[in-house]
Amino acid sequence: MRHEHVISAKQFTRADIEAVLDRAADFAANQQDVADAHEGALLATAFFEPSTRTKMSFEAAIKRLGGDVIDMGPVEFSSVSKGETLADTLRVIEGYADAIVLRHPMEGSATMATEYVDVPLLNAGDGAGQHPTQTLLDLFTIREEVGLDDLTIGIMGDLKYGRTVHSLAQALTNFDTAQHFISPESLRLPRSVRYDLHEQGAKVREHEDFEAILSELDVLYVTRIQRERFPDEDEYKAVSGQYQLDKEMILEHNEDLTVLHPLPRVDEVAPGIDSLPGAKYFEQAHNGVPVRMALLDMLL
Ligand code: NCD
Repeated sequence: MRHEHVISAKQFTRADIEAVLDRAADFAANQQDVADAHEGALLATAFFEPSTRTKMSFEAAIKRLGGDVIDMGPVEFSSVSKGETLADTLRVIEGYADAIVLRHPMEGSATMATEYVDVPLLNAGDGAGQHPTQTLLDLFTIREEVGLDDLTIGIMGDLKYGRTVHSLAQALTNFDTAQHFISPESLRLPRSVRYDLHEQGAKVREHEDFEAILSELDVLYVTRIQRERFPDEDEYKAVSGQYQLDKEMILEHNEDLTVLHPLPRVDEVAPGIDSLPGAKYFEQAHNGVPVRMALLDMLL
C-alpha cells in the first residue's frame, strides 16, 4: 500500500484489508511503544464538512507514530472563502505535508483530488460517495467481535446517502458474508453500489422491516439518516424516526447481537442499548486510532 491514494473501498483486496487489520492489532496491543516510528512525518487534514472521530483519530494516529498534524482549519477561515478552488488548495497543501486527509461534500472530490497531488491522499468522506478508512475500522471491529467469514450482517438506515455503507458493503464482498440491507424504499442502496455487489457475486437481500430478521444476524450496523444530503426537508421528515432500535427488541429477538454504528447517532440506537454486552459502537470509534496508525504506517 506504500505511497498509494486511498479513495474507495473498491480498491481493497482481501490481502490489503488483512494486512492493515493485522498491523492495527499490533498497534492496539502496544499503542505506547511505537512513538518514533514516523518521527518528523507531517499529516495535513482538510475537512470541508464537520468531523469529530475521523479528524481526531487521524490526529491521534499520526502523533502516536511520532509525527505531527497540520490542519486547514474551518473552511470559513481558509482561502476557500476567498474563492480558491479545491484543486489549488490541495496543490498548496501537498507542499506542506507527507500525506493529506480530505473530507469534502462533493461525491467524486477525492478522485478528482488525486489528479493534483502526488503525496498519498486519504478520502475521509466524499459526499454520499465513499469513506474507506471508516470501513477499515468497521472491519477491524467486526473481525474482533465475530470474525469476517461466515458472517451475517444487517446494514440499516440511510443506505442511499450513507457513504460508510457504500464502502463497507463493497469491502465485505472480499469475505464470505451474507448482507441484509434494511431501509425505507426511498433510501435503498444506490443502483451503482447494487450493481457492484452483484458483479462481485455478493449474497445480498433487501428488507423494509427489521424486527423480523434480527434473529438471523450476527451484526447489525446501524446508520444515521444523512439529513444534510436531502434536497428537501420534507423528504427527510418522511423517513426520519422510522428505524429505531431499542433494548427490548434486542432482548426479545437476539441477545447476542453485536450492534455497530459509525456515529454520530441521532435516535436510531436507543441509549438503553449502551449497557448491553453487544453494544460495540464506542469500541468501534476507539479502534479508529490503531487502524489509522496501521494505514499511515503502511502509506508513509
Ligand atoms: C460518518 C460520516 O461522516 O460519514 N461519520 C464518521 O466518519 N464516523 C457517519 C455519519 O456522519 O453519519
